[in-house]
Amino acid sequence: MKNLTKLMCLLLALAMVFALCACGSSPAPAASEAPEAPAESEAPADEPVDYSSMTIDELKPLIQTVTEGKLTIATSPDFAPYEFYAIDADGNPQLAGFDVGMAQYIAEFLGLEAEIIPMDFDGVLNELAAKSVDIGAAGLSPDPSRMDAMDFSDIYYFGGQSFVTVEGKEDLFPTLADANKAEYSIGAQNGSIQMDLANANTPDADIVSLVKVTDIVAELIGGKLDGAFIETAVAENYAKSYPQLKIVHDVPYEAAAGSAFGISKGNEALLAAVNLAIAAANEDGFLESAVAEANELSTGEIIEGLLPDEAAQG
Ligand code: ARG
Repeated sequence: MKNLTKLMCLLLALAMVFALCACGSSPAPAASEAPEAPAESEAPADEPVDYSSMTIDELKPLIQTVTEGKLTIATSPDFAPYEFYAIDADGNPQLAGFDVGMAQYIAEFLGLEAEIIPMDFDGVLNELAAKSVDIGAAGLSPDPSRMDAMDFSDIYYFGGQSFVTVEGKEDLFPTLADANKAEYSIGAQNGSIQMDLANANTPDADIVSLVKVTDIVAELIGGKLDGAFIETAVAENYAKSYPQLKIVHDVPYEAAAGSAFGISKGNEALLAAVNLAIAAANEDGFLESAVAEANELSTGEIIEGLLPDEAAQG
């Protein structure tokens, strides 16, 4: 009996030795590798980097863009005073507006060359979603429904929302609700939050989606549209060149007041740098003077935004 117990103890001890050996079967780290372990635990690879607390000089080397050394910016120049074509002294259309000025300012602030690409507004949304541009400078509302497709900078301008019509038709719309009738053609820009406003406020009307805001202005004046939803700052601007245009109602829009730059999604260093540039442009007065200059330039005798070929298409 005693011997049996002894044997069992021995077997147990042997089993434990085997078990310990099995546990230690993975190769032990070589002496030279050992110091790496504590270093790793000090700075785990997945620790989030706080770009928003960095200076522009810290951010610059971290910014990646579609084309190295360049900042590729999509804009939609049918939106004075944000962006439009101004006719220069030689009669040639030039991109102008405070978004264009800001795009150049931001590029310079980031130490990059600005590459500004004009396109239709829905193109700006698509190019940003496809990440084929770095920034969208197009009076973009940071609407929550867009946040899967792009990031947004801080707000840099407040434009407001309006319902507009033309001289002679103001009496048709004593209230905004009066525009919600099947007999009225109501315009809004394709892909814009103004289209959402049209759908929300005038669902019974014939809602007409147009590619450019300048088409909307042309069709209002030409009598094809009875009313339209346009950003107030833009409507006021076009009303200076076209006094027939009448702003009749403020339209509430709570989802995302103000304009921001659209930033290629997930490009956090770029987003942080653009926000620093906006703060600098506010501080040094650049933004204020760019807005003033754009308003002045877009209310001359020339019909900005309506290039001859665009007017012909309308
Ligand atoms: N703020 C509106 C939006 O984001 C309209 C912007 C239109 N911009 C333009 N350049 N046409 O939907």
